[in-house]
Amino acid sequence: MTLAKLLRRLQDLVANLVAALETMLLFPALFRDPFRTRPGPFHSAYWRRRSLDSLADEVDRLFTAPLTPPNMCAMSDQMRAQLSAALQSSQINMLPSYTRTLPTGAETGTFLALDVGGSTLRVSLVHLAGQGTMAIRHVASTPIDEEVKLLEGTRFFDWMASHIDTMLAEVDAEDGRGPVPLSVGLSWSFPLEQTSHNTGLLIHMGKGFMCSTGTVGQELGQLITEACRRRNLSVAVDAIVNDGSATLLSRAYVDPTTRMSLILGTGTNMAIHYPVDCIGRAKFGDRPPAWFEGAPHVIVNTEMSMFGGAVLPLTRWDEILNRTHLRPDYQPLEYMITGRYLGEIVRLVIVEAVETAHLFRGELPHSMRDAYSFDTSLLAAIEADPSPQLTISAALLQKEHPGTHAPRPEDMRFLRRVCQTVSRRAAGYLATAIHSMWSLHNDADAEAESPADTVPGKAPKQVTVIEREGNPRSLSIACDGSVINKYPGFRDHCQAYLDQLTHETAASRESLDPSPSLIHLDPAPESAILGAAVAVAIAVSEQP
Ligand SMILES: *[C@@H]1O[C@H](CO)[C@@H](O)[C@H](O)[C@H]1NC(C)=O
Ligand SMILES: *[C@@H]1O[C@H](CO)[C@@H](O)[C@H](O)[C@H]1NC(C)=O
Repeated sequence: MTLAKLLRRLQDLVANLVAALETMLLFPALFRDPFRTRPGPFHSAYWRRRSLDSLADEVDRLFTAPLTPPNMCAMSDQMRAQLSAALQSSQINMLPSYTRTLPTGAETGTFLALDVGGSTLRVSLVHLAGQGTMAIRHVASTPIDEEVKLLEGTRFFDWMASHIDTMLAEVDAEDGRGPVPLSVGLSWSFPLEQTSHNTGLLIHMGKGFMCSTGTVGQELGQLITEACRRRNLSVAVDAIVNDGSATLLSRAYVDPTTRMSLILGTGTNMAIHYPVDCIGRAKFGDRPPAWFEGAPHVIVNTEMSMFGGAVLPLTRWDEILNRTHLRPDYQPLEYMITGRYLGEIVRLVIVEAVETAHLFRGELPHSMRDAYSFDTSLLAAIEADPSPQLTISAALLQKEHPGTHAPRPEDMRFLRRVCQTVSRRAAGYLATAIHSMWSLHNDADAEAESPADTVPGKAPKQVTVIEREGNPRSLSIACDGSVINKYPGFRDHCQAYLDQLTHETAASRESLDPSPSLIHLDPAPESAILGAAVAVAIAVSEQP
């Protein structure tokens, strides 16, 4: 090797070193951030610094490309096939409840409604006045804190009974203190092996609760009744419903076109009122033959969050979220649309933007390094920020995730675009899932109406939605949960996608009357309490 050659090599080496140093200065986050999933520093993306705008464009393209009406219709068809298959045989979703009858709106009475959720106990007296009107006469909310969660076995139910006692005393109600037991409706947001419309066996509660310790296999209604009896309160648990059924029932009392419910907050689920005969018999478990002689429909707990796998496309950020999740692929839809995950998806985009597009001057705030550290409420605040330079949400962001520098206006503009894109995609995927449920529902109705005209497995030519009363071509979906009811613009965006989808369906079936808005998303506030009251009203009116 000649000296000249050696010198040239040396020169190259120095130049490479300088380039590497330059990169360290340009992308400090890259070298400080121990974020595990980033590709190595020799990955080509890191040697190309890009503008925030170009990254925002790419984010937009990747998230929203699947949201064209024809593609959403195709995805809805595939999801409907998943739902149909699960209706026949799955043991973990499309589960028939014990609730068969929807309210007429004429039920009357005053009932005790209990709502036991993951973080709050609510005890309420609800008055149903008939003609579809009802009112909460009194409600007492108590947080279920760590201490309460640690109450073992019957002590948890004693704690519940004490709050029932206090609430009844507050309203000076004689109910429950006389010889006639007070009818109780229970909204229970935990796993339960239900055995009839008002009984169920406790199974492991999870979510940090200890009350199933020593009580697994015991009857839930009885645990509550006995705890009340120890306080000289006479109650009868006449209905137990899960949150999805409660939402459907509460809205059906007011609007007779309600056939489905949707919950979208931290998690998501749907319930639909569906013909018993279209559901695989094995799915009903051990029910007495008499049960099948009742009303022809039953409320089905769909566990919709589990559907959409291999149908709804993932972006590279969704892939990271799935890969690092404790249960990859378990709830595909949930991971892309619910409050628990929207913030994390945005955080993953932020991490990449800090590294490759100099977001936050290339510095990731320390508190944002951990997975799930970016709350979905921040997305909502950024989207709702009315200040022209987004200074309000910038201040909030700086408060919750302090960085060395305050976020710049261009950082905030980027964030706003990403939040909009991620929430828009969620609204689109949700609309697709709802549309697949709606198609399933229409198929079943068409089958029930005209079995002779329907080729099994084929979509009916005409969309026929048969309703009890009200507009025969409309169907109401009762909505509850913070994301669907409170996230800025979310329900409207979802409704707009649904309208596009129903248009597309009508057009593809050459219907002459492609009426839009066949499906309405309608808020059902306080649905857990009101639904529990409606459930107990129906149960009482059906008692012999
Ligand atoms: C329940 O009633 C019995 C008999 O009237 C009484 O002795 C007892 O103290 C009462 N218990 C409570 C908790 O009020
Ligand atoms: C989700 O992650 C698991 C585990 O890494 C992987 O096997 C699976 O293919 C991923 N699913 C999708 C849709 O990417």
